[in-house]
Amino acid sequence: MLNRPDGNFDSIDVIDMPAGGAGPTLSPRRRQWMISRAAGEARFLRCRRNSPWFLLDRLQLDLFGWFLKVFGFYGAGVRNALDIQSTEIELSFAGLPRAFDGYRILHVSDPHFDTLAGIEAALLRRLDNIDADLCVLTGDYMHRLDCPLDESIPPMRRMTAAISAHDGIVATLGNHDNAGMAAPLEDLGIRVLVNESLAIERGGDRIVLTGTDDVHWFRTDEAEKALAEAPGGFKIALVHSPEIAHVAARAGYALYLGGHTHGGQICLPGGRPLISKLANNRAFVSGLWRCGGMIGFTNSGAGVSYLPVRFNSRGEVALIVLKRRAS
Ligand SMILES: [Fe+2]
Repeated sequence: MLNRPDGNFDSIDVIDMPAGGAGPTLSPRRRQWMISRAAGEARFLRCRRNSPWFLLDRLQLDLFGWFLKVFGFYGAGVRNALDIQSTEIELSFAGLPRAFDGYRILHVSDPHFDTLAGIEAALLRRLDNIDADLCVLTGDYMHRLDCPLDESIPPMRRMTAAISAHDGIVATLGNHDNAGMAAPLEDLGIRVLVNESLAIERGGDRIVLTGTDDVHWFRTDEAEKALAEAPGGFKIALVHSPEIAHVAARAGYALYLGGHTHGGQICLPGGRPLISKLANNRAFVSGLWRCGGMIGFTNSGAGVSYLPVRFNSRGEVALIVLKRRAS
């Protein structure tokens, strides 16, 4: 069961879900967040439209795509992108509450459903037959920040239906997701965490999840505040990118789950990414890492962005199994 944690949570705003599927009640704090996030998105899109650097970036990517097509690599890159792997990772923690020993977290990130036709079907195939206790989604459901809801919500509905997770689905937003998606995702039964925490209780034990808004394009003090003010205990941070991993480590989180980088998407042989898409914490570009006493995992993402290809990298859905270690 997902529960609001006890304690002093005056500054942690959790949307209350009324029984009977009536949908979430938008709290004043969530409403305020939506207004400022939407304004930030409008500013971002305006700046980008007028930015010569963005146009240059696009030109380089278009030229690279053209090069791949002319020299016959493009088809292989698309096939690689559709070849989503499943990864199972067992992680041991001395502080894991006993009731969560063996707890299975399905982690899906960055499907970018609007980039490549076929990603949705490939992802749904991969989700089939995975039984988890909890599913966490760490953002970038679409590529276009201004993607209309009638395009972004249907694939999310189908993905939600394909996920089997006893304790439900918890999500954060990525830098490509607009604020308007939060409420419709909640209507699908996905618990969207925007700089807030919730607890999952089992047999008298509990773990705490804190989810932040995106910290790549839309970083605000609220994200760090949510991490700093979460209650004590075994805590898991859900953040779209690993760019505030050090903040979570300082705040005593045991585990940090994110995505955003697509594992580099286009990598050199051996998997070394050409581009990390990270402003900081670039060492955390993919897979498992450590930051202080915290373990982190950067999911390679199910999908792709900009060019619909992967080289020396594969998309993934991850099943993370928490184990209790004798201290
Ligand atoms: Fe992202």
